[in-house]
Amino acid sequence: MPKLNEAVIKKTVARCREKGIVIPTFAQLADPAKVPDSVKKKLKGVGLWDVDPANLFRISWKNDVKSGLYGGVNFLEIPSELTGVDARIIGLIGKYFPTGAHKVGAAFGCLVPRLVTGEFDPSSQKAVWPSTGNFCRGGAFDCAVLACTAVAILPEEMSKERFEWLKSIGAEVIATPGCESNVKEIYDKCWDIRKNRKDCVIFNQFEEFGNSLWHYHVTGPAIEEAFSKARGRKSRLAGYASATGSAGTIAAGDRLKKNYPLSKVAAVEALQCPTLLLNGFGGHRIEGIGDKHVPWIHNVRNTDMVLAIDDESVVSILRLFNEPAGKKVLKSQGLKEAFIESLPLMGYSSICNMLSCVKMAKYYELGKDDILFTIFTDSVELYGSRLKEMHQEHGAYTELQAIGDLERRLRGVGIDHLRELSYQDRKALHNLKYFTWVEQQGKTVEELNALWDPEFWDRTFEQVTEYDKMIGEFNERTGLLRETAGAKK
Ligand SMILES: Cc1ncc(COP(=O)(O)O)c(C=O)c1O
Repeated sequence: MPKLNEAVIKKTVARCREKGIVIPTFAQLADPAKVPDSVKKKLKGVGLWDVDPANLFRISWKNDVKSGLYGGVNFLEIPSELTGVDARIIGLIGKYFPTGAHKVGAAFGCLVPRLVTGEFDPSSQKAVWPSTGNFCRGGAFDCAVLACTAVAILPEEMSKERFEWLKSIGAEVIATPGCESNVKEIYDKCWDIRKNRKDCVIFNQFEEFGNSLWHYHVTGPAIEEAFSKARGRKSRLAGYASATGSAGTIAAGDRLKKNYPLSKVAAVEALQCPTLLLNGFGGHRIEGIGDKHVPWIHNVRNTDMVLAIDDESVVSILRLFNEPAGKKVLKSQGLKEAFIESLPLMGYSSICNMLSCVKMAKYYELGKDDILFTIFTDSVELYGSRLKEMHQEHGAYTELQAIGDLERRLRGVGIDHLRELSYQDRKALHNLKYFTWVEQQGKTVEELNALWDPEFWDRTFEQVTEYDKMIGEFNERTGLLRETAGAKK
């Protein structure tokens, strides 16, 4: 735990009091039944994407978009009629977070601990969010509602929607050269900022354990809850697949391993940039994942399998799920209208995650009692411009193409480009971190070695108790919750 900076905490308390900001605990985000009534009352009048401090309480998998309050975990099951495998595949829905993507949670996990310990001073410092898109959108949103200033760093080739939204929320935007997998260029920019801009604090999702911590304590329990809701008498929680960018989301797998030790965790990347699978590199189109290195926070010892998905399959299936010809073909296959209408809940990496589950189901020969979980990170809302580009480049999408994509790219997924990891394979991935993190990014060999120890991760995730206590004390000092509770009486 860091040393508390009382002078900064005092200033931040005053700032939050002035702006009416109450900070939720991790426990409240995991279980909104713990959210105070006064906050719930306020939420009723606040839209999901509004820049309003109450929306901090919506950094949760359980937003009920109809009532504006909370319901069960938002998830979507992909039927066997679509996938062709017996195993059940369920994805948690990221669209119903503020910003339309689950990364707003990772940003919260990085920012809030530093805010309540006084390590970050919003009155004089800017928060820098290095990212391939959604993390910096999440960071910019969290900053806006917490009245902090955000600097977003992202590659220039990311989708137009991401840039437009960042500008609209008032973030300073820095575009770095290249595409999705050009993370080294982002790191170089961070070093430049560290050297030359003393007013900036960098929240590097690839190395900040607050990112994993949020997923371990919020996404992990959400999957467990979805499992208990969806399960039949004989169901098994067979596994979890997560396409990794910063490797924060995959930390939900660490949680599942604790409670379902036989479940398998797969780390997924683009075939065009198979770093975990083959030490490979390259540009690809699956926005949000695959960054040509092993993130510091990836607990590789808990990863059972690495697999790669062809980005051509992902972009083709986005068309299948969203073009009229695609929907017509899906209907002709007997898929229910309501399900077809829910397919836009999946953006690129969500589709990649779904395909990964099909691969896992085939590899492990899973049956109808097996349930695989994954994350539908963001929705097609962030890829409208990509659909238009494909239309311009390849012409209208036809039924013939749709049938081909369905049979070849979805149902035809094979067990190629996949490796089940031995102990030594996992160690090799761990060692690969050396070249990025020790040689380039200033970590020590001792710090690297510590990451191989499972105890390290237990201790890291246990910090949540202390953080929640500090958040509680912080809110106590602003006095806002007490006053609204008093006003109610
Ligand atoms: C759309 C999308 N999918 C997947 C990911 C990967 O998640 P993580 O960084 O937690 O590994 C990201 C990360 O930014 C993302 O934006």
